[in-house]
Order: sequence, then C-alpha cells, then structure tokens
Amino acid sequence: MAKEPGKNTSGRGQRELKVKVKTAKGRKLSSTRWLERQLNDPYVARAKREGMRGRAAYKLIELDDKFRFLVPGARVVDLGCAPGGWLQVAVQRVNALGEKSGKRIGTVLGVDLQEVEHLAGAEAHVLDFLADGADAQVKSWLAGQADVVMSDMAAASSGHKATDHLRIIALCEHAAYFAFDVLAPGGTFVAKVLAGGAEGELQALLKRRFTKVYNVKPPASRSDSSEKYVVAMGFRGALADGEPGPEGDAADPAHDAL
Ligand SMILES: C[S@@+](CC[C@H](N)C(=O)[O-])C[C@H]1O[C@@H](n2cnc3c(N)ncnc32)[C@H](O)[C@@H]1O
Repeated sequence: MAKEPGKNTSGRGQRELKVKVKTAKGRKLSSTRWLERQLNDPYVARAKREGMRGRAAYKLIELDDKFRFLVPGARVVDLGCAPGGWLQVAVQRVNALGEKSGKRIGTVLGVDLQEVEHLAGAEAHVLDFLADGADAQVKSWLAGQADVVMSDMAAASSGHKATDHLRIIALCEHAAYFAFDVLAPGGTFVAKVLAGGAEGELQALLKRRFTKVYNVKPPASRSDSSEKYVVAMGFRGALADGEPGPEGDAADPAHDAL
C-alpha cells in the first residue's frame, strides 16, 4: 500500500508514522489512509488520553491560548459542535460549571446537524443552521447576547475542491451574519474557512465589523488540509443607520459576492 515512511501527516513537528494499515477487501484506499492517519496522529492519541471528544478540541485550545477569548463568564455559541470537543474546552474555560471559585460563570450553547452526547455545562441542540428560521431559533435559546460565536461547521465533502470551498464559505458567512446579530460589542467570532480564493470577500466584511481580524492555522490543524481559522476580535457593535447592512442587504457588495 502507498505510504511514505516517516512522513508527517498529522501536523507539525510530530513523530514518525508507526502503525501501518493493510489494505483490506471491501475497504477503499481512502478509508485505509484515513484509518492509518488516525492511528498515527498524536492529537488523536492525546484526545483519547485526556478524555476529549476529538482532536478538533486542540485546535480551539491552541486558538484560545493565542487569542484568549474564552474567559470566565463568557457566553459562547458553538455552531457545528458535534461530537463536542470545542464544547468541552469552552465549558472549562468560561467556567460554565462554576468550578473556578470567585470567577464569573459563563454559558455554552451548541447546535449541530447531529445529536451531541450530553455534556455537563453545555446546552446542545440538533439543528440545521442553514435551515429557514435557524438563526431565530438559536437566538431564542441564547436569550440575550453572546461574547463569542464560533463555527467549526464543515459540510460533508463532495470530492470537488471548489464546491467544498464555496460550501464552507457559505456556512462561514451565515455564521458571521448570525454573529453580527447576537455579539455584544467587543465580542469575538471564530470560524473555519478553507484557503482558496472566495474567502477574500468574507475577510473584507469582517474587517469592517471587527477591530482585528487574524487568519490562523493552528498546529493541530493538519498541514495537508487547506483548512484555516479566521479569528475576528473587537466586534464594533450594531451598524448605525446608513451603514451597509447585513442580512441580505443588496447594498452590501461583500455579502452579495459570496
Ligand atoms: C469538524 S465537525 C465539528 C467538530 C467540533 N468542533 C468538535 O470539536 O467536536 C463539523 C460539524 O459541522 C456540522 N455541520 C455541518 N453543516 C452544518 C449545518 N448546516 N448545521 C449545523 N451543523 C452543521 C457537522 O454535522 C459536523 O458535526
């Protein structure tokens, strides 16, 4: 089977591949490769050891270690939260269970197409965030403003790179407009995007609404993936009358272009 000995497929500066998976009858080569990558991925092993629900948790840990948006007392919305790794990180860091005495207690609300196993300190709902009325539904669960809106949403791969890219940008854009609607001034928006072109308009839009916009590839994000994260901080708050508006406003070219 195809494997380059010692090639790092799981991130940066990681150890060599150790487990080789034999091709098996009925298993596609792509599945064999996925299995092999999982078995050799130090973040997968770490997640197992530390009781995290997936290696994705470490991407959020790395982003938050750098930008510090998950502070005790923060109200967090996690879009595309299954199986719940980001929820676990958020619950702990915003002190949703009140375990850090003397610190403010935060809240964590997540939605996903898939059911999420119960997690103390988080409220998770099954919801298609692109469905009609989904924004209003999440707002009703949130019942107020949020300090952090984060999206790790990813549509199932179509196998066609350009299509996948546009889909993830659409998800990200939808999440961004939701964030504009619910974030408190000063709030943070974090979202997964794929490098590939159309994200330029989204960046321009975010730069208008936040004081700082960063593009980051956390070490836990696989180096062979075009995934990266945008971290927009310092939400400027609701638009004043006359400014280009969100929610399908035809006067907003950045929104139309995506
Ligand atoms: C990479 S996973 C998220 C992993 C998560 N951050 C964690 O740490 O466990 C992407 C998730 O996005 C969800 N997703 C994709 N499209 C969605 C949509 N339209 N509405 C809600 N969730 C969606 C998928 O169901 C999937 O669970």
